[in-house]
Amino acid sequence: AAAHAGQSRYAFDELHWGNDETHHVAQGYDADILLRWGDPIFADAPDFDVMNQTADAQLQQFGYNNDYVGFVPLNVEGSRGLLCVNHEYTNEEVMFPGLGRQDKAEFAGMTRALADIEMAAHGGSIVEIARNADGKWAVVRDGKLNRRISPLTTAMALDGPAAGHPRMQTSADPGGLEVTGTLNNCAGGMTPWGTWLMAEENFHGYFWTDKRDFEGEPDLSGQPEAAQMARYGVPGMWYAWGKYHNRFNIDKEPNEANRFGWVVEVDPMDPQSKPVKHTALGRFAHEGAETTLSKDGRLVIYMGDDARFEYVYKYVSGGVVSEDRAANARLLSDGTLYVARFEADGTCRWLPLVHGQGPLTAEHGFASQADVLIDTRLAADALGATPMDRPEDASPRGDGTAYMMLTNNSRRKASQTDAANPRPESRFGHIVEIKEDGGDHAAASGRWSILVKCGDPDIADVGAEWHPETSEHGWFGSPDNSAMDADGRLWVATDQGSKWGKTGKSDGLYGVETEGGLRGHSKLFFRCPVGAELCGPCFTPDGETLFLAVQHPGTDGTKDLKGFGRASTFEDPATRWPDFDPQMPPRPSVVVVTRQGGGKIAS
Ligand code: FEO
Ligand code: CA
Ligand code: CA
Ligand code: CA
Repeated sequence: AAAHAGQSRYAFDELHWGNDETHHVAQGYDADILLRWGDPIFADAPDFDVMNQTADAQLQQFGYNNDYVGFVPLNVEGSRGLLCVNHEYTNEEVMFPGLGRQDKAEFAGMTRALADIEMAAHGGSIVEIARNADGKWAVVRDGKLNRRISPLTTAMALDGPAAGHPRMQTSADPGGLEVTGTLNNCAGGMTPWGTWLMAEENFHGYFWTDKRDFEGEPDLSGQPEAAQMARYGVPGMWYAWGKYHNRFNIDKEPNEANRFGWVVEVDPMDPQSKPVKHTALGRFAHEGAETTLSKDGRLVIYMGDDARFEYVYKYVSGGVVSEDRAANARLLSDGTLYVARFEADGTCRWLPLVHGQGPLTAEHGFASQADVLIDTRLAADALGATPMDRPEDASPRGDGTAYMMLTNNSRRKASQTDAANPRPESRFGHIVEIKEDGGDHAAASGRWSILVKCGDPDIADVGAEWHPETSEHGWFGSPDNSAMDADGRLWVATDQGSKWGKTGKSDGLYGVETEGGLRGHSKLFFRCPVGAELCGPCFTPDGETLFLAVQHPGTDGTKDLKGFGRASTFEDPATRWPDFDPQMPPRPSVVVVTRQGGGKIAS
């Protein structure tokens, strides 16, 4: 046998790949359901009644399609804490009885009442949980800090250079300083001072127009900001909300879309606090917002813009993180946003998005820093950033390293490949490692390399590259969410979307080696029920608990690979996970993983 390349840093027996109606975890671990869509999260909240849903009830219950999960410890033992969970989007055909799949041009079955339930199911939940004597976690329904955040009800402040700008003003908010709610919150992050960052991803999909050509494409000819809208895909018309709420109709409220696509900061310790949209972090399809520190103590956030040919960003605060919470609150308002250029020689250059520098001037369409931030994508275009294969989550480590998940990009032509995005029609994605100069996350440049090229290593045409000892169970496609554990180990969750048929594998969680002789080796730890993607991964600080968010079970490409790949309906889902009750559709749920007999996970 070939010499063994080293000892795996992930101490568990690899789970076997597959795809069936339920979830699976590596042997020796429990994976229990903690929170499901509809679970009441307040003492007086109504029980979930799936046949008689209302927006009022949904506002008191756990929302839909859990994505990011953050954990805030509430005691030194770590046996009580707050879960901060994003609710990214809704699948109306699986949520509502009798609705079926909607024609996205007309939404004939939708009503205002259903749209309001969808809005109430978006946003976020803050839920207290406690670990009982038996080691199992349970929801504390009367937790004083429990909170629902939604695009229907939650007032949010705008701050930073774009706040108050005329392009941020609407008829409901002539000052351009307050927005109702947040949309499509995907991955996220926690700050060192314990606030929660919710990234607004595909906000464009919520905007509507009545002006469409005969193919249903939006006609932007009357819009003063038509070029900017087109660059962001506004209006996407994925949801019918604009039929009932004028603010989502660009014919009536053209600036509302400028007020989404930001990173939102929430203080989970104060349920009355007003969340803040920080415009200094730029406007794009924010996938995540994982934080770290520079060598001199400034806050650094790595961020992907998840769309084909979009960019990788990082934000560096002006001031340093301190014990002063009021001072920390300003770190996300005053700092520098950078976009990445990945040179062929292995250099990663961080280009500052600062008004007045280089092409970011009035003569190129940027009259102020507000324009640079509202039109971040256009500013990054002007700087010559590197268009990537859909940048999803990023996981930094304290040593000046960051890992960027690039999920796939089937539209990249051979003529458009480059060193950092080397595969044409990349179906399975790759992971890029960035090592900042001097090991400092604030550095203006670093070195990049590809950690793994995803897909089946046994099919030559795929062009995958893994450590050769990676088994048939360990390779994966379409990295999406990721996490760095307390021991500096990288964990990667996948989202193959409606394309999972290309691997035959369900989505799951993998431990991917980044160091030593096993660099590029991957092992499967957990896998999802059919049609779900895996989000979250979040470890408690003691490493004994792992929270996973199973999103949209039973939907992606389960019966029909056309359209949105959402073939299941309420009446005929591909799985009824996790209840397996014939009266209940599948429910997105947070799963809690613990080791049987106790102890740290994978150690
Ligand atoms: Fe919401 Fe890019 O995943
Ligand atoms: Ca994601
Ligand atoms: Ca993450
Ligand atoms: Ca995703």
